[in-house]
Amino acid sequence: MATESPAYAGNPLRDPLDRRLPRIAGPSGLVIFGVTGDLSRKKLMPAVYDLANRGLLPPGFALVGFARRDWADEDFAQVVHDAVKEHARTPFREEVWQQLAEGMRFVPGEFDDDSAFETLKSTIEDLDKARGTGGNFAFYLSVPPKFFANVVQQLKKHGLSQGTGSSWRRAVIEKPFGHDLQSAQELNKTVHDVFPPNEVFRIDHYLGKETVQNILALRFANTMYEPIWNRSYVDHVQITMAEDIGIGGRAGYYDGIGAARDVIQNHLLQLLALTAMEEPGSFHPKALTAEKLKVLGAVVLPEDLGKYTVRGQYAHAWQGGEEVLGYLEEDGIDPKSKTDTYAAIKVEINNRRWAGVPFYLRTGKRLGRRVTEIAVVFKRAPYLPFESGATEELGQNALVIRVQPDEGVTVRFGSKVPGTSTEVRDVSMDFAYGESFTESSPEAYERLILDVLLGDANLFPRHQEVELSWTILDPIEQHWDKHGKPAQYASGTWGPAEADEMLARDGRSWRRP
Ligand code: BG6
Repeated sequence: MATESPAYAGNPLRDPLDRRLPRIAGPSGLVIFGVTGDLSRKKLMPAVYDLANRGLLPPGFALVGFARRDWADEDFAQVVHDAVKEHARTPFREEVWQQLAEGMRFVPGEFDDDSAFETLKSTIEDLDKARGTGGNFAFYLSVPPKFFANVVQQLKKHGLSQGTGSSWRRAVIEKPFGHDLQSAQELNKTVHDVFPPNEVFRIDHYLGKETVQNILALRFANTMYEPIWNRSYVDHVQITMAEDIGIGGRAGYYDGIGAARDVIQNHLLQLLALTAMEEPGSFHPKALTAEKLKVLGAVVLPEDLGKYTVRGQYAHAWQGGEEVLGYLEEDGIDPKSKTDTYAAIKVEINNRRWAGVPFYLRTGKRLGRRVTEIAVVFKRAPYLPFESGATEELGQNALVIRVQPDEGVTVRFGSKVPGTSTEVRDVSMDFAYGESFTESSPEAYERLILDVLLGDANLFPRHQEVELSWTILDPIEQHWDKHGKPAQYASGTWGPAEADEMLARDGRSWRRP
């Protein structure tokens, strides 16, 4: 999967195939726009520290914050320090911190402020001299989407988007990438006008998760699963991403966007693509993207979107001993809002492997608990030579990829209950990361930031994938715009009754994850 790290390029002592040597970023720096935001404090800054602590960043690494704050470098360093102390995965080590802090700079300014971008330019030049960053910088746009175009255009205007000589400049763009196909196409055009496509890294942090990358290992490194991974054996697939939290302080972002745009368009369709795609010839980004594009291109929506899509809004209730507000009562939400906090859809995939196998996707806020899983549910055995009643407790075989929080894989199958009579009941066999591996998994953002610095695009959706995903979602959003409104569901439950009815219509039911 890895491309060769610049740090080792041409190093005759290093065998690029030797997996014992870690992939370490070469001389480089990261500029974060929107450095005061939640994502930056909770995920990005801690991930940078964790990478440094694991020895995966170059000693002269530079971190530049850009935001509308009247801060000096030291104030910024203090903010990073607090964020790291609170959210980093690995232990705090003073010497690592000191080295990292020496490369921190802050540039105050607005996104349309030319002089701030000139200051950014001279800051980068100074860092090249002081820290040996070699002109290699990634610009991380952790800003509200309406500023994406603005910031990349400013980078171009001030000569920041192109490195000199062999140095590189990269753009890292957070989601949501557009709010429909048209806006995504426009944004892609603007971004590609400034950065070449191979220097644009669109974030879908689900691809940075170990358990998501493991889908490819599970499917393509083993022989057991692939023969049954098709319409002859699979009855249907359920992809669930449930959260117990509400929208928190994100009303401004969330209202008008909703669960389907926030999560199905990106995370869940990526999970679907990895679960359903054909084997790529290699893990080269081009080969991987080609397969993902084929499968996303084969996704079809049901004709009756009224029957096979459901949206909901969480309602005021007691959840886990705590009284929580309904979505329409949340601060900053229009009490008449039709934004979905729950969405469930059915899709099919028109190809030889999957024709006729439904994929049910659901996501929601304020559900029973936080869990993401992919359940591949198999058909029942065609004939059961047991006495009547012996298999009453036998469900369908299933293979469940537990993405989070209890990372692993479960296989569910029937087994004879010990005793003199024959009774078959469901049992499960578990693989748990915590039991099989001693090392804890890195956070998604650690992996993704490292890959950006290495120029490895494998875990980043290309622009065609993003656009295809909008092609899938747009008709659903348009249908919802014209018809009805979200059903209410009590916080702490598993979503609206309509979602259960949707599966019951097909003679199926949702798993209780
Ligand atoms: C983000 C969504 O992409 O993923 C959030 O915008 C959601 O609404 C988050 O809470 C969940 O991420 P994770 O890694 O906790 O499943």
